[in-house]
Amino acid sequence: MKRNVTKPHLSRSFENWHCQSSVRASPYNYVLSPEALENLECRNWFPPSLLPFLQNRHIRNRSNIKVRLQACYLVHFLDYTNVLEHTVVNAAIETIAHNKLSVSFDSDIKVMAHMIYKDEGYHALFSALIADQIAHHFDAPRLPSTRLEELNSFLKETHTAYRSLLKFVIGFVSETVIANELRNLSKHHLVATVERMFKDHLRDEAKHALYFSYCFTWLWPKLEEREKDFVVRALARVIQIFCSFDERWLIGNLLQCGLPLSSHPCIVRDCQHWSINRLILAGSETVIAIRKAGILDIPKYRDALEKAGLTHG
Ligand SMILES: [Fe+2]
Ligand SMILES: [Fe+2]
Repeated sequence: MKRNVTKPHLSRSFENWHCQSSVRASPYNYVLSPEALENLECRNWFPPSLLPFLQNRHIRNRSNIKVRLQACYLVHFLDYTNVLEHTVVNAAIETIAHNKLSVSFDSDIKVMAHMIYKDEGYHALFSALIADQIAHHFDAPRLPSTRLEELNSFLKETHTAYRSLLKFVIGFVSETVIANELRNLSKHHLVATVERMFKDHLRDEAKHALYFSYCFTWLWPKLEEREKDFVVRALARVIQIFCSFDERWLIGNLLQCGLPLSSHPCIVRDCQHWSINRLILAGSETVIAIRKAGILDIPKYRDALEKAGLTHG
C-alpha cells in the first residue's frame, strides 16, 4: 500500500467532521441489555483468530472457557483503549494543539487536533460503557495494562526536554497501529454491539492515522539532528511496546479459568508469534509514514529500525 497524504487530502477527510464523526453520528449506540446478553446471535466477543491461545490443546475444546477468555480479553482491550485515548493519544494531540514541540503546526492542523481530541474522548466513553457491561456480566477481572505501564516508564525516564517529542512519537505510533488493528477487528462477525463499536471507532481512526502520518512527515525534516536521533531511538522502542503481548493478563486469566499451572507455559508459548505477526501487520501504516519521511534513506536510522524489526531491507 502506498499512501501519499497531502494537506488538501487531509482537509477533505475532516471537512464533514461535524456530522460524520462517531461522537455526532453514533450516540447511544452501545448498550448490551440483559435480554441481548441472554440471546446472542453470535457469541464471539473478540475474533478468535486474533487470540492464538484459544487454539491451544488445553483450551480449544472447552467452549465456555473460550467464550470467557474472549470476553475478558475484550474487557482488557477496552480498558486499555479507554486509558490510552485520554492519557496517551490526547497527550500527543496537546503537543500539536498547544505548541509543545520545537516547531509549531499550521492553524488548520491545530483545528483538526481539537476535533481528534473530542473523538478520543468519545472513544474512551464507549470503551468504558461496553467494558463495564461485559465485565459485570462475566465477572471479569480488571487488570492493569502492561503496555501502558511500559509507555509510562519510558516517559518517566526521558529527560523533560524530550518528553513532548516522545509523547508525539507515541501518539504517531499508536494512531497508525490502531487504524490497522481496528481494520482487522472489523472484518470479523462479533456480538452486534461490539462489532458496531469497532466499526464506529475505525471510521474515526482511519482519519486519525492519515492525520498523524501527515504530521509526522511534515515535522521530521524540521527537527534538529539531536531530535531526529531521539525520534528514531524512540520509534524502535515504542513500536516494540505496542506489539508486545500482555502475558501477565493471560496468566491471570488462565488461573481464573481454573487451568492448571502446568499448562500455562505451553499456552503462553502459543502467543509468541502473535508479537511478530502484529509487528508486520500493525506496523505497516507506521512504516509507510516513516519511509515517506525519508528516514530509511539515512543508513544509521535505517539500520536502527531494521534491528528493531520494524522494517525489512
Ligand atoms: Fe480512538
Ligand atoms: Fe485516534
